[in-house]
Amino acid sequence: MIPPPGVFRRIILTFLAIGVAFTVPLIFLYDVIKINWRSNMEIQASVGEQEGPRKWAPADAVSFESPGLPHAGELPTNPVPADAVSLARGKQLYGYHCAVCHGATGKGDGSVVRFWKADAKPPANLTEPRIGQQTDGALYLTIAQGFGIMPPLRENLSVRERWDVVNYVRTLSK
Ligand code: HEC
Repeated sequence: MIPPPGVFRRIILTFLAIGVAFTVPLIFLYDVIKINWRSNMEIQASVGEQEGPRKWAPADAVSFESPGLPHAGELPTNPVPADAVSLARGKQLYGYHCAVCHGATGKGDGSVVRFWKADAKPPANLTEPRIGQQTDGALYLTIAQGFGIMPPLRENLSVRERWDVVNYVRTLSK
C-alpha cells in the first residue's frame, strides 16, 4: 500500500513537536538557562560547614557530658568518698571496662595485650607509684578523655561511675 502524500512529513513533524515539548522544559529544569524558581529549601537560613558563628547548646539543654568535664586546664575534684560502696562498685566497673587492657590486678597485662603490635605502647601499670601519685582529678580525666593511645571511656561510664573507678584504681598502687 502506498501511503497518501504528506504522511511522512506529518509523522516527522509530530515527533519533532513532541521532542521539543519534552526537551524545552529540561533546559530550565537543569539550569541550562537558570530561572530562580521559588524554593523554600533554598531560602532558609543555614550555616555551612566550618562557618561561624558557632552556636552553643541552649542554656537549659540537657547535656550528658558537661557536668563531668571541667573547663580546659582545670582539674575536677573528687566528690565521691572512697567508702566500701564506692570501692565495690569501682572494682566491678574496673573489671568490665579496664581489666581487658590493664589486667585484673592493674599490672598492665590484660588479656588483649598479647594482640598488641610489638612496638605499640602497652597499657600503663596501674600499681606503679607514678599512678598513685597522680591526683584523683588527673585519673578521672584519663578515664573520661583517654590518654595517649588509651581511648576515652566517658561513653561507657557515667560521672559517678568514673569516680568509683578512680577510687578503686587508687587502691591498686598501695
Ligand atoms: C583499650 C585498652 C585500654 C582500656 C580499656 C583502658 N586503658 Fe588505660 N591505658 C591504656 C594504654 C595503652 C595506656 C598507655 C597510654 C599511653 O601512655 O600512651 C593507658 C594508660 C592509663 C593510665 C596512665 C595514664 C598516665 O598518666 O600515664 C591510667 C591511669 C589508665 N590507663 C587507667 C585506665 C582505667 C581506670 C581504665 C578503665 C576505666 C582504663 N585505663 C581502660 C589502655 C587501656
